[in-house]
Amino acid sequence: MKYNTTNIIAFSATGTTKKIACQIASNIPSAHNVYHDLLKNDDTMLHFNNDEIVIFGVPVYAGRVPEIAAKRLSEIKGDGTPAIIVCVYGNRDYDDALIELYDIVSANGFVVLSAGAFIGCHSIFNMIATERPHANDMALAAKMGKNTFMKLAEENFSLDNISGIELKIKGNRPYRQPGNVPLKPKTNRSCSRCGLCAMECPVGAIPKQNPKETDKNLCISCAHCIDICTKKARYYGGLIYWIGSRKFIKNYSEPRIPYIVYR
Ligand SMILES: Cc1cc2nc3c(=O)[nH]c(=O)nc-3n(C[C@H](O)[C@H](O)[C@H](O)COP(=O)(O)O)c2cc1C
Ligand code: SF4
Ligand code: SF4
Repeated sequence: MKYNTTNIIAFSATGTTKKIACQIASNIPSAHNVYHDLLKNDDTMLHFNNDEIVIFGVPVYAGRVPEIAAKRLSEIKGDGTPAIIVCVYGNRDYDDALIELYDIVSANGFVVLSAGAFIGCHSIFNMIATERPHANDMALAAKMGKNTFMKLAEENFSLDNISGIELKIKGNRPYRQPGNVPLKPKTNRSCSRCGLCAMECPVGAIPKQNPKETDKNLCISCAHCIDICTKKARYYGGLIYWIGSRKFIKNYSEPRIPYIVYR
C-alpha cells in the first residue's frame, strides 16, 4: 500500500525537529513528501484527506508546544487523516508538550498512530546534547516511521475503529503554565545588515531597518536568527546566560533516551 503524500509539518527554528520528522518520513512509502514550514506565517488553510499521512513536529519550549506553533497548528485540519506526532527537546524534559500536541491535532480531525519525544541539541544552551540527534536517535526515528506504516498496512487495521480511542501519552492535563525565557539574542559587530534574520524571524521581532536590534517583547528566544546568520553575528551571551549554562551543565548533562508509543 502506498499513500499519496507524506506531509511533514514542523516548527523548527534550529533544524533538529525538522531532521527527526523528515527521518520518520523517510521510511514511509508514498508518492511524494511535502514539507510545510510552520516558522512562516502562511495564511493558507491546510486541509488533508485520509489518503495522506501527516507527521507533526514541534520543539519543546518550557515544557510546552511553542505558543506560536500551537496557534498555527490549530488552523490545520484533517479528515480522519493518519498522523504521527513528535516533539524534540534539549535533554531537560518534554513535560506536557507531547500530550498537548496530541490534543491539538486530535481535535482537528487527525488520528494519531504513534507519538515520540526525541532529544536534540539544546537551542539556547548548545553545550547540552550537542551531538543529538545522534545515529541511534536517527535509527529509532526511521524505525518509528516504518513501524507506524506497517501498522497502517495490517489487514485488519481500520482508522475508523481507533479514532475515538485515546492513545496514552506521558504528560499532564491541565498542562504546565507556559513560561517565557528571559534570554534574548545579542548582535555583534560582524553584522552586515543583510536583513536575512529580519526576514526569517518567525514572529517579526527583528526590525528590517535595523536588524541589529531585537524587540524583546516579541522575541520567543527560538535561536533561528543565530542559526541562519552566515556572519555569526547573533549569539546568546552575558552573565545570566553564563549562570544558566552552569546550571544546565550541572543538572541536564546525563543523556536521555527517546520515548515512543504506538497504537
Ligand atoms: C525558548 C526555548 C525553550 C526551551 N525549553 C525547553 C524545555 O522545556 N525542555 C527541554 O528539554 N528543552 C527545551 N528547549 C530546547 C529545545 O526544545 C531543543 O533544543 C529542540 O531540539 C529545538 O528544536 P529545533 O532545532 O527544531 O528548533 C528550549 C528551547 C527554546 C528556544
Ligand atoms: S542575518 Fe546576521 S548579518 Fe544579516 S542582518 Fe541578521 S545579524 Fe546581521
Ligand atoms: S529574534 Fe527572537 S524570535 Fe526572532 S529569530 Fe531571533 S530568537 Fe527567534
